[in-house]
Amino acid sequence: MKTVSSALDAAYWRQRYATGRDGWDAGAPTPPLRAYFDQLGPAAQPRILIPGVGRGYEAEYLHRAGFRQVFVADFAPEALGALAARVPDFPAAHLLPADFFGLSNDPPYDLIVEQTFFCALAPAQRPAYARQCARLLRPGGTLAGLLFDTAFAGATEPPFGGTAAEYRAYFAPYFTFQHFAPATNSLRPRQGKELFICLKKN
Ligand SMILES: C[S@@+](CC[C@H](N)C(=O)[O-])C[C@H]1O[C@@H](n2cnc3c(N)ncnc32)[C@H](O)[C@@H]1O
Repeated sequence: MKTVSSALDAAYWRQRYATGRDGWDAGAPTPPLRAYFDQLGPAAQPRILIPGVGRGYEAEYLHRAGFRQVFVADFAPEALGALAARVPDFPAAHLLPADFFGLSNDPPYDLIVEQTFFCALAPAQRPAYARQCARLLRPGGTLAGLLFDTAFAGATEPPFGGTAAEYRAYFAPYFTFQHFAPATNSLRPRQGKELFICLKKN
């Protein structure tokens, strides 16, 4: 069995940006998240976190739709820099250049948005990801987004795949499952390979 790289640190991700190995970058908000955001509406002004946000097209979409409490975290400066350059009025204080696992939950978030961040972590970090999402959310808060439901055979670096059954075990200790099913509106290359999840923190 091949060894998973243990150094998926900021330097690793900066190198991927520098060398253009950014195949995750859809260049626009993805259809499943757009549809989810559209039914949410900004009226309640939920406090939203998008961890491992990359270049932040979903954050831009939310911001332009009137959501004013959108926070984005990424430890690669290239990622947050791209969002700041495209959306100059995105609040600088909402750009969190930090490791997800060290983020503060004071105050807690109402919603965490997941997209190609879970699969970017070493699989051994998955239990810690679920725990940290739960810690960052208020009781009743939501973790929503997309998880790959496919194997990337022999992968030694991200993306790392998995199965619905595996993922359920990570989230079950902290969340009630509202929706956990194959996505029906994925980007074409991801069709049939993604779950859309909507989990409520207990
Ligand atoms: C595969 S990219 C996905 C970007 C974005 N979610 C998207 O869909 O376009 C993963 C991102 O997570 C960031 N990242 C990885 N591990 C992180 C961590 N522990 N804390 C903060 N950011 C992290 C990387 O810098 C990278 O921008």
